[in-house]
Amino acid sequence: MTETIDLPVEAAPEPQTAAPRRKLFIKSYGCQMNAYDAQKMTDLLAPAGFDETQNLDDADLVILNTCHIRERAAEKIFSELGKVREVKTARRARGRTTQVVVAGCVAQAEGGEIVRRQKAVDLVVGPQNYHHLPELLRRAEVAPVIDTDFPVEDKFDFLVKAPRHVTQARGVAAFVTVQEGCDKFCTFCVVPYTRGAEVSRPVEKIVAEVADLAEAGVREITLLGQNVNAYHGDGPDGRVWSLAKLCARLAEVPGIARLRYMTSHPNDMDADLIAAHRDLPALMPYLHLPVQSGADAILASMNRKHDLAAYRDIVRRLRDACPDIALSSDFIVGFPGESDADFDATLDLVREITFASAFSFKYSPRPGTPGAEMADQVPDAVKVARLAVLQELLDAQRLAFHQSLVGRTLAVLFEKNGRHAGQIAGRSPYLQPVQVEAPEALIGQILPVEITGLASNSLFGRLVPEETQRL
Ligand code: SAH
Ligand code: SF4
Ligand code: F3S
Repeated sequence: MTETIDLPVEAAPEPQTAAPRRKLFIKSYGCQMNAYDAQKMTDLLAPAGFDETQNLDDADLVILNTCHIRERAAEKIFSELGKVREVKTARRARGRTTQVVVAGCVAQAEGGEIVRRQKAVDLVVGPQNYHHLPELLRRAEVAPVIDTDFPVEDKFDFLVKAPRHVTQARGVAAFVTVQEGCDKFCTFCVVPYTRGAEVSRPVEKIVAEVADLAEAGVREITLLGQNVNAYHGDGPDGRVWSLAKLCARLAEVPGIARLRYMTSHPNDMDADLIAAHRDLPALMPYLHLPVQSGADAILASMNRKHDLAAYRDIVRRLRDACPDIALSSDFIVGFPGESDADFDATLDLVREITFASAFSFKYSPRPGTPGAEMADQVPDAVKVARLAVLQELLDAQRLAFHQSLVGRTLAVLFEKNGRHAGQIAGRSPYLQPVQVEAPEALIGQILPVEITGLASNSLFGRLVPEETQRL
């Protein structure tokens, strides 16, 4: 069925260039790379006539940028689509058309199945194809379109730079994707199938994007990649650059004061990157380094390609290089074959390493991955019980870490107004939100703050002007 878009009745005589502005509702699920992609889609659609709205009922275009990592994440999309369909029907009754797009990793994994299951969907577009959105939307006015082929061209070459005021409104900390895809094939994980093979962006393009962000006032950059420390991009000198070398170059961009990267695989924590945590002040002393399990047999069956001794060794070298470093991690409980003893080994590892924060999940069998076919699937009740025990331990460690900061002075990058009048909020080097009584004019600055107390997930502090020189 072909749908038409309402044009204003009193269209001006020369309106070819002035198509009516339309409203875009976009929602992103899953990881930060999806959040980055959603921003890029928004930027790409602005010159095509779309302004963002937070109100679904107003939206001429709805994009769900989806995540396929666990069953619940994927199923949530279909219940969301049910709501979107109701809105689309109600809008049609008012004479309005609504295009519905499923993007992201569910799109890549399920393709045309999505349209069969939910007829309200007009376009299914994979994470490597969204740079063609304006054209795909035009085609989808005629009939549903599925575009999930991995294209030969580099989507980053087609993306649009956000206007300065848009970047400024997004704040002083920004994400930049530097690497995509994964060649590791952990047996539980869909990412190699949804995002494709590892690809690194060239150094100069990343430097240009970071310089633009810095020029608009961004002070902190988080470099993103499904396996970000496997970064190996073409450098301006004709050589292949590592993540460590990229970080050193980005630290030279005027205005950039802080760098982070995520997510890393232990096997790609090379000596240069560990040394960068010692030598590069801009690199924040906080590292997300997923380990998944504390049992060698489970790590092997997960195809993580390293053992516990290797993980311990990396942590020791990181802590030698940067004594202040804090770690976070990801854990999966109830992977097939995980015994009580294996799970206890995970608890032991957590007690031994101590994490400042962590994400932990029940294993979710994903269609098409080897784990889903393994014998010895663990019953859900066991997974639930193990997750509760692990999370209690991790929560206690997170709280202990927060408490250890009380009385210390930390450099805080102020990002926005605080919860209460007269307060501003920033981030510590360890990413915790910090609330401080201070004037709004300090937003964008990095200043020393003495931590005076904590609430569940954030810290409170006071400015220490006499230490400003030291930082
Ligand atoms: N590239 C990152 C992680 C990407 S997915 C890495 O290699 O560590 C983010 C986290 O989701 C993983 O670290 C893992 O803990 C979790 N995860 C992935 N697949 C899962 C599954 N099938 N069930 C439960 N958790 C899963
Ligand atoms: Fe998934 Fe493993 Fe690749 Fe991480 S390294 S994205 S967990 S396959
Ligand atoms: Fe989810 Fe895809 Fe990210 S599966 S975690 S959105 S790479």
